[in-house]
Amino acid sequence: MSLSLVSPVPLQAAFSPKRAVGGSDALSHDFKSALRHLASGVSVITTGLAPHRTGFTATSVSSLSVDPARIIVSVNRHSSSHDALRRSGVFAVNFLSADQIDIAHAFSGFGGLKGEARYAGAEWSTLDSGASVLEGALANIDAEIEEFIDRHSHSIVIGRVLAARSARSGDALTYWRGRYDPLIASDSAAIA
Ligand SMILES: Cc1cc2nc3c(=O)[nH]c(=O)nc-3n(C[C@H](O)[C@H](O)[C@H](O)COP(=O)(O)O)c2cc1C
Repeated sequence: MSLSLVSPVPLQAAFSPKRAVGGSDALSHDFKSALRHLASGVSVITTGLAPHRTGFTATSVSSLSVDPARIIVSVNRHSSSHDALRRSGVFAVNFLSADQIDIAHAFSGFGGLKGEARYAGAEWSTLDSGASVLEGALANIDAEIEEFIDRHSHSIVIGRVLAARSARSGDALTYWRGRYDPLIASDSAAIA
């Protein structure tokens, strides 16, 4: 059997032929359109102490390194959580389960909810840092801020992980092509 290095699908046919010919606005538009195709897990980032908590829904969560345990999230500099994060120095990342879509809406500011009001109707506890962790989430990661890097419209927050806990089962909430989508676990036994 011989392997062909030539793709059987012409690239022009496989991808939209749209090009960023109109400068940075057009490039940003194309970039944003491309990002809609990146399926992401949905998290809620919490910060502050009751009754002065706030937080936001985020897809920009990523692990920076496992050893040492570091987590990254990007926060918009205009968001109410930006300065709150900087002030508190700690945060928690909660990976939402498929049935927590209402919490995703609340923390994205849907319906005009702000600050502490976003926490209503869900059960919260704390681990090490004092930031709120969401009961029923797929996992909770508690962190203190190691570095806050202001860059363009956002700040990159690097968190030193203080504690992490995971559920033994559950379906994930994802965001893909501009909408929330449940991701149903095909094999719950695969969860370590
Ligand atoms: C699916 C989804 C993902 C989001 N991801 C991020 C993110 O990674 N970083 C961010 O700063 N805002 C993100 N946002 C927007 C914030 O959730 C929202 O703007 C913020 O909570 C509202 O700002 P406010 O606190 O000033 O009202 C996302 C929103 C949605 C719906």
